[in-house]
Amino acid sequence: MQPGAVATDLVATEEFPVTERRLLIIILAAGKGTRMLSAQPKVLHSIAGRSLLGHVMAAAAGAGAVRTAVVIGPGMDDVQAEALRHDSQAAIFVQNDQLGTADAVRAARSAIAEMGDSGEIVVLFGDTPLMSAATISKAVAALRSGSDSAVVGFEAADPTGYGRLITSAEGQLLAIREHKEASAAERAVRLCNSGVVAFRASGFLAVLDAIGNANAKGEFYLTDAIEIGRQHGRTASVVIATETEVLGINDRGQLAEAEAVFQRARRLAMMAAGVTLVAPETVYFGHDTVIGADTVVEPFVVFGPGVTVGQGVTIRSFTHLVGHDAKAKQGAAIGDKVELGPYARIRPGAVLGDGVHVGNFVEVKNATLEAGAKANHLSYIGDARVGAGANIGAGTITCNYDGFNKHKTDIGAGAFIGSNSALVAPVKIGDGAIIGAGSVIARDVAADALAVTRAPHDERANWASRFRQMMSRKKAAKS
Ligand code: UD1
Ligand code: MG
Repeated sequence: MQPGAVATDLVATEEFPVTERRLLIIILAAGKGTRMLSAQPKVLHSIAGRSLLGHVMAAAAGAGAVRTAVVIGPGMDDVQAEALRHDSQAAIFVQNDQLGTADAVRAARSAIAEMGDSGEIVVLFGDTPLMSAATISKAVAALRSGSDSAVVGFEAADPTGYGRLITSAEGQLLAIREHKEASAAERAVRLCNSGVVAFRASGFLAVLDAIGNANAKGEFYLTDAIEIGRQHGRTASVVIATETEVLGINDRGQLAEAEAVFQRARRLAMMAAGVTLVAPETVYFGHDTVIGADTVVEPFVVFGPGVTVGQGVTIRSFTHLVGHDAKAKQGAAIGDKVELGPYARIRPGAVLGDGVHVGNFVEVKNATLEAGAKANHLSYIGDARVGAGANIGAGTITCNYDGFNKHKTDIGAGAFIGSNSALVAPVKIGDGAIIGAGSVIARDVAADALAVTRAPHDERANWASRFRQMMSRKKAAKS
């Protein structure tokens, strides 16, 4: 794609009344993230099962962005696809050479121009995943209450490397000084630029175009928009965020740090909502995990994305639940008063009705277990329906895959599947049927029938003792 090319059609300006196209959010994601030492672009790395870009786009949507523009590097088709997966209306722009943050914003020029003289523009970094919608909204609110620009700042424990917010005695923001350009006095300032900057759209392009690159890095700094803006008669203010919220991801250590911050917050929110976490620090949530009140989560439980859990559920230790993975988007839903684990594995498409028991070493994938069904030990239930109250014996396997296609197993209400049975799909077991233990069932079984495919019982009286005597004699004769 050409630099500045638009991958998705921008909706014609006339289609948006002025009041409805107020907030354009531009997300800068052109950086490859070389310090990640990764084959995939930095913004595609995940926190709580969602890409960094996905987190930032969710915050943008939460802040009320009417239009989201994502600036990517050349050839970053996977980043473009991820952006469009989150927002099919996102406008994708390519910045060919990374000449600085102002140059990256210029790549989205047509989206800015489309704003005309109304609305606001917020610039976010694609590698700052914990930025909240609330903080972005505060920056927008600062514009709506009169500032022409607003910068999200924070008090850095160690400000080295950050742009410093230079303020007047009255608290007006005068300039952002990048670390390399800062004087000793300016470097003593601990109030830093998070990277999130909001601009009133009117007059912004003129400011953006006036930014040069005569600085230590030879880059076009977006931060210069504050000082240049003042020369254009524009005012600027600061909105404060916490340092954890503005944490930027440059390496795997910071990725883990952001994950830890996210998980800590999520655990507190879960407990505040009435969920018992016996050992919160050992439980990991997906970004979208939903759990009802009075559910107890024992230590060492991991939730991937796309899982909802009802009320009064017990999830025992070492249970692993994932609703979405790279292929499947259908989610996993656990009803009320379900008992899971220890060591249960819940995969995409698992739907467990109220009162279901899924015990140790049981894997459920793309299968519905209706109310009160039980699979307590050592089973694989995939591509199946298990009717209400059915009992799946230990070691039961639904043989859903023939090497080419997946097939469905349908087990009726109240059926009893004896231990160590193989149900070769496609196959239907009628309501109330009983399958003898150890059976391989490849044909449908009628309701209330018994089906057994076991080899006949063959018993020979005293055979074992005679065998032992014979073997002992043979061994004695040899020595
Ligand atoms: C930037 C800010 C600094 C702030 C800091 C916070 C500028 C000039 N400086 O510095 O004030 O304290 O972030 O972390 O804005 N990017 C592009 N194209 C480019 C350059 C950057 O897309 O040509 C993207 C990067 O992928 C990244 C973001 O913009 O997501 C920030 O760029 P980076 O080089 O990390 O800026 P900093 O030096 O950290
Ligand atoms: Mg940076």
